[in-house]
Amino acid sequence: MKTILITGGAGFIGSHTVRLFVTKYPEYKIVNLDKLTYAGNLENLKDIENKPNYIFEQGDIADLKFITNLFKKYNFDSVIHLAAESHVDRSITDPLVFIRTNITGTATLLHVAKESWKESNKKNLFYHVSTDEVFGSLELGGDFFYEDTPYDPKSPYSSSKASSDHLVRAWNHTYNMPVVISNCSNNYGPYQFPEKLIPLFINNILKKKPLPVYGEGINVRDWLFVEDHAKAIDVIFHKGKIGETYNIGGHNEWTNIDLIKLLCKQVDEKIRNPEGTSEKLITYVTDRSGHDLRYAIDATKIKDELGWIPSLQFDEGLRKTIDWYLENISWLDNVTSGTYQDYYKKQYKQD
Ligand code: NAD
Ligand code: DAU
Repeated sequence: MKTILITGGAGFIGSHTVRLFVTKYPEYKIVNLDKLTYAGNLENLKDIENKPNYIFEQGDIADLKFITNLFKKYNFDSVIHLAAESHVDRSITDPLVFIRTNITGTATLLHVAKESWKESNKKNLFYHVSTDEVFGSLELGGDFFYEDTPYDPKSPYSSSKASSDHLVRAWNHTYNMPVVISNCSNNYGPYQFPEKLIPLFINNILKKKPLPVYGEGINVRDWLFVEDHAKAIDVIFHKGKIGETYNIGGHNEWTNIDLIKLLCKQVDEKIRNPEGTSEKLITYVTDRSGHDLRYAIDATKIKDELGWIPSLQFDEGLRKTIDWYLENISWLDNVTSGTYQDYYKKQYKQD
């Protein structure tokens, strides 16, 4: 039985990745390590928490002693590393926690994995999940991000993720650590914390609150349904070449304002609002400081070499996402009111 450490598994993408691995590979033991910061929510994994091949451990990836003991306890074969501080706006107001978790945390995992695998005769892998934001910002209508696009991160978040990617490559180059990295575009779907654009706006529409559009709403993002990201992680984990980087994206670029108008239209249709109701909530606000203009991934390499392509069209993915939030209002309410943290307080410590 392979024992795999997945970090950040109580978060958005991590919970989809944990679910996919636990259900698709009963022969793997999956250990989900998560600190349960504000972004970690064990309700995201309620449907699989009693599976025999699933274990949850609460802890901090930057805590060397804890991570050392965890590796001794489980003797992990591989790591899929998703734990991070992930929200750009928070990185602008509180950058140091991003440095600690994203940089020191990744270095701590690499260091302990290297020590643990020193005399290993098994096939080990350290898979680092990263973001397209490390490449910086593109011109409107211009070129794409390729795997060899030079790094040019602009925010404390993207700089901390870029640093972590460099550390992973350094461990590969210097210590021969078997690593693989993927850089993905914007994800959307169920269980995304309502601080990110799509779930925040769904929540605000339902609560009839303003929809705060940064600047003129002309920034472009490339959107991918989260389950397609988890499937890409599965493919890269099993078939990716050691030392390689893979870009993951949806070839699905939207200006924020066009996306928001589509979202308003789809929610109005779903909850039988008169046409145009939700658009009236759109409110232009001061732009995000240093706001990256455009991200767009070229995902040819993963398609040609590993056969992965997104399975969902955006229109369908967005409808599925809206349906999920409408069917899970209690999840949204628990998260927005903070009671999701009380729920596990007895069992687990919260930040
Ligand atoms: P998220 O914020 O929803 O989840 C992050 C998880 O990490 C949470 O469960 C949190 O409790 C945990 N965590 C934070 N600090 C920790 C620490 N010190 N020790 C242990 N656990 C800790 O993030 P997400 O959106 O699911 O992103 C997951 C990963 O994917 C991140 O590495 C992110 O950079 C990357 N990524 C995200 C996107 C996106 O669109 N959301 C796109 C590309 C890449
Ligand atoms: O590209 C991948 C990245 O996508 C991930 O690495 C990050 O973890 C993830 O948070 C995401 O970053 P963005 O900054 O692109 O996502 P966010 O949902 O915060 O914002 C999307 C766009 O919408 C961006 O141009 C800012 C804008 N926006 C966002 C919010 C929260 C608004 O106009 N108003 C808002 O209230």
